[in-house]
Amino acid sequence: MIKAITGTKDILPVDISKWHYLENLLRETFQLFNYKEIRTPIFEETALFARGIGEETDIVSKEMYTFKDRSETSITLRPENTAGVVRSFIEQSLGAQQSLNKLYYIGAMFRQERPQAGRLRQFHQFGAEALGSTSPLLDSEMIQIAYHILKNLGLKNLVVKINSLGIPEVRENYKNVLRDYLKDKKDNLSEESRKRFDTNILRIFDSKIEVDQQIMKDAPLLIDYLDEQSKNDFNVVKNYLTKVGIPFEVDPALVRGLDYYTKTTFEIVSGSVGSQSALCGGGRYDLLVEELGGKATPGVGFAAGMERILLACENEKSLNLPQDSIDAYLIRVDSKTEQNLELDLKLELELINLSSKLRQGNISCDYDYLNRSIKAQMREANKFNAKYVVFVGGDEFNRGELNIKNLSNGEQQLIKIEDFEKLKSIIKS
Ligand code: HAM
Repeated sequence: MIKAITGTKDILPVDISKWHYLENLLRETFQLFNYKEIRTPIFEETALFARGIGEETDIVSKEMYTFKDRSETSITLRPENTAGVVRSFIEQSLGAQQSLNKLYYIGAMFRQERPQAGRLRQFHQFGAEALGSTSPLLDSEMIQIAYHILKNLGLKNLVVKINSLGIPEVRENYKNVLRDYLKDKKDNLSEESRKRFDTNILRIFDSKIEVDQQIMKDAPLLIDYLDEQSKNDFNVVKNYLTKVGIPFEVDPALVRGLDYYTKTTFEIVSGSVGSQSALCGGGRYDLLVEELGGKATPGVGFAAGMERILLACENEKSLNLPQDSIDAYLIRVDSKTEQNLELDLKLELELINLSSKLRQGNISCDYDYLNRSIKAQMREANKFNAKYVVFVGGDEFNRGELNIKNLSNGEQQLIKIEDFEKLKSIIKS
């Protein structure tokens, strides 16, 4: 038997209402904040991610699904969507049409990580990118949007963490300070962190290994070395969040796993999902557009993991969704037989007629295709949470009538077959 690829998941009909609920909330929220949807391809040239996210990041060096297509072009399934959106922004000259582009997306991303609860190889993100302004109001707006969505899902156990990585010159200077601090402690670091000492020194802050954490506890912090502009912008972000009532923590160790960030970075973590606790993350990337060949344009954005968010909702039992239901289930009273082909045809035509008229009248309905007994058809009706069943057949049908039953109170009434409007109004009531 062929099975699904490790780290991928089927989203089955029993779970789909949660996804629809989340997707509707996202679209409503982005509409509230005036963001427009953008859909970019799920695969791009490998160079886009290598250059955009950074060669030395875990994502690019270890996690990408990269392959050559038949014309020997190196293709990568998108591990995230900021690079793709920026590529599209440049290629489609979106900046020339609109001085500030506020964009959002929802879609599948791919990373070959070790699967565990809340970590998949194909997962879904929603995210937003605002391109064209250096204003820290937009950094704050990103946090506000993410927080608004998570709060509206009923999530409680949330912590908003913010940090500033400053401008690149400051960061380069600071890296030297950090290198100095770690120089004589390097041999005590874990193997992974020793490697990062040379390739991506800031990421040592991310290490979950005890020895590394002990050493980094007393390390000098980038936030104490910020330039004036970054400091001012960071203050605006803090003031904004305070003003709109979003509690936050400044976390000077929040360095994020992608190389494109400048100034503000943030994450919202949940205490309800175990070790993969980051529900969303983002920040400012003022140099990325230029680095990818566009005209210098500042940007800021975030992305959130939808599986993780739904896991948090499940663990906190925060979603109380109505059960799926249909308005009516049509029950065929006389089973199909070889003996009475004429009746058989009449019933079938009536089922077709009724079901299509109901659907045209915006009433959801279904009927049996498997020639099942009345009892079995009733079981189906209950399984689908039908509000009404309509019996088609028997003596009533021969008299030109239909029997309609309200399944919530058991009330039944007979109506004339021609009186479709009455049937409709009962079901709609
Ligand atoms: P990221 O932190 O790599 O940022 O991912 C954002 C979110 O995607 C994470 O917080 C997590 O919820 C979810 N996520 C990441 N990897 C997985 C996985 N393997 N399985 C399940 N969920 C996962 C970015 O992707 C940036 N593009 C965010 C951004 C947008 N920054 C600026 N603009």
